[in-house]
Amino acid sequence: MNSIDAAWQALRHHKDKIQSVSLNQLFARDGRRFESFSLRLGDLLVDFSKNLITEETLRLLRQTSERADLAQRREATLSGAKVNISEDRAALHTALRAPREAVIKVDGRNIVPDVHGALDRTRAFADAVRNGSVTGAHGAAFRDVVHIGIGGSVLGPAMITQALTPYHHERIRVHFVSNVDGAHLHDTLRELEPETTLFLIASKTFTTQETMLNADSARRWITEALGEDAVARHFAALSSNFEAATRFGIPGERTFAFWDWVGGRYSSWSAVGLPVAIAIGPDGFAALLAGARHMDEHFASAPLEENIPATLGLIGVWYRSILGYASSAIIPYDQRLSRLTAHLQQVDMESNGKSRRLDGTPVTQPTAGVVWGGAGTNVQHSFFQLLHQGSDIVPVDFLVAAQPHEDMPGHHDMLLANCLAQSQALMTGRSLEEAKALLLAEGMVPANATALAPHRTFEGNRPSTTLLYRKLDPRTLGMLIALYEHKVLVQGALWGINSFDQWGVELGKELANRLLPAIKGATPEVADGSTLGLLDDLRRMRDV
Ligand code: F6P
Repeated sequence: MNSIDAAWQALRHHKDKIQSVSLNQLFARDGRRFESFSLRLGDLLVDFSKNLITEETLRLLRQTSERADLAQRREATLSGAKVNISEDRAALHTALRAPREAVIKVDGRNIVPDVHGALDRTRAFADAVRNGSVTGAHGAAFRDVVHIGIGGSVLGPAMITQALTPYHHERIRVHFVSNVDGAHLHDTLRELEPETTLFLIASKTFTTQETMLNADSARRWITEALGEDAVARHFAALSSNFEAATRFGIPGERTFAFWDWVGGRYSSWSAVGLPVAIAIGPDGFAALLAGARHMDEHFASAPLEENIPATLGLIGVWYRSILGYASSAIIPYDQRLSRLTAHLQQVDMESNGKSRRLDGTPVTQPTAGVVWGGAGTNVQHSFFQLLHQGSDIVPVDFLVAAQPHEDMPGHHDMLLANCLAQSQALMTGRSLEEAKALLLAEGMVPANATALAPHRTFEGNRPSTTLLYRKLDPRTLGMLIALYEHKVLVQGALWGINSFDQWGVELGKELANRLLPAIKGATPEVADGSTLGLLDDLRRMRDV
């Protein structure tokens, strides 16, 4: 057995040890468990102590990561090596938040001056939209900005923009349209005026069919109201495909470029973040980048024992690949982070939802599980039942700010109490005896208490991590997003997969293109019985 296989084997053996002890027992044995299993960076505290781990678990996970060459993979990625081997590209989103004086080379050329040049252009345009010096065709300042994109070209900026609502410009409203379902664009435009609306078309390739159709419809909305010449004033492109943006009618000075080494799901830090810069201002955007940079520096230099993204990633591998948990939940106790899960679903599942190793051979253990979640406290009243008493164990990440932005008596105290209570309840549970004693104390007759107690019992021992920070400001948000990006890198390294391609999304796109003529009435090219049957009924219902 080679050394990496031996490391995985050691983790599998260790599983029995962990399963014979509960979190309650681990806390009872070690009065300093919280201190020993918490890590801090600036105003961010990450409490790992409620996870099903011991020092030995972490030691074995670190040993596995050493044998999987995590440090080399991290170094190669951060320094611009072409780690995305199936597309022959670097994965250098970290360069987008590098300081001006940094030197990061791709193909022997320092790319940092290009990054800062692009950032300066973005900053100037965002400022001009905000102060009204860039206007629509009739000279009016823009009041609404509609960002059109899909996947990585919208999930990050939409999430960040919503998260930072308290920092928004008071005149400008930013909207996001992604779905090719015409309802999305239609309902967004219903209350907007063409004269005061600016469209940002965000597409790395500028060929994604949903985005292009939405962009064409937006273009028609503008030209019908303001004429063809208005396109150059009412549109900007955020793309690596300069030529396609020009063909669409967007002038060069309105095209904000980024590079092939910026993956879609990591592109919020690039020109794709323009709606964020317009909403919160270039200084706010700089603070977001600075927060991410702080996390990058920590990830690059902190020893594994103190490294927050590495620890989060390793514990995730432990749950997924060794304990076999099929999913994990992200639960921000923050209404403005209600889009965080959707963003992290793409970052995690599009990156590590792979079953081939870098060399093309099948993986040897389960890779990324399902990421799901939503904002607390709302989700306590929907799926938390399953988290507490369901037959699957779902590790949870709780995220919460110590301070709110609003001065609303009682609200934040209650939010915090609920957040802490949930992780406590998941861990401590309630035994059959305790449940029965409580029912008896409430005055229930013993026979009824005995019958009801099993339903009122909580197994407990359900793991969670809590991320606590002072306030959800741009810098903190930058740190949090970068933390999850690096977590995914760590996991990809352990699994030996390419975290930076996404070939799995291609087949469906191809088949949709082939099916489109049949939807419009042509004879279908496909022959599978179900699709043919569906097309038949579809035609009948559409009277085609
Ligand atoms: O559907 C997959 C994908 O390629 C994502 O990775 C990407 O974020 C999204 O489509 C949008 O791509 P583009 O920015 O080129 O329009």
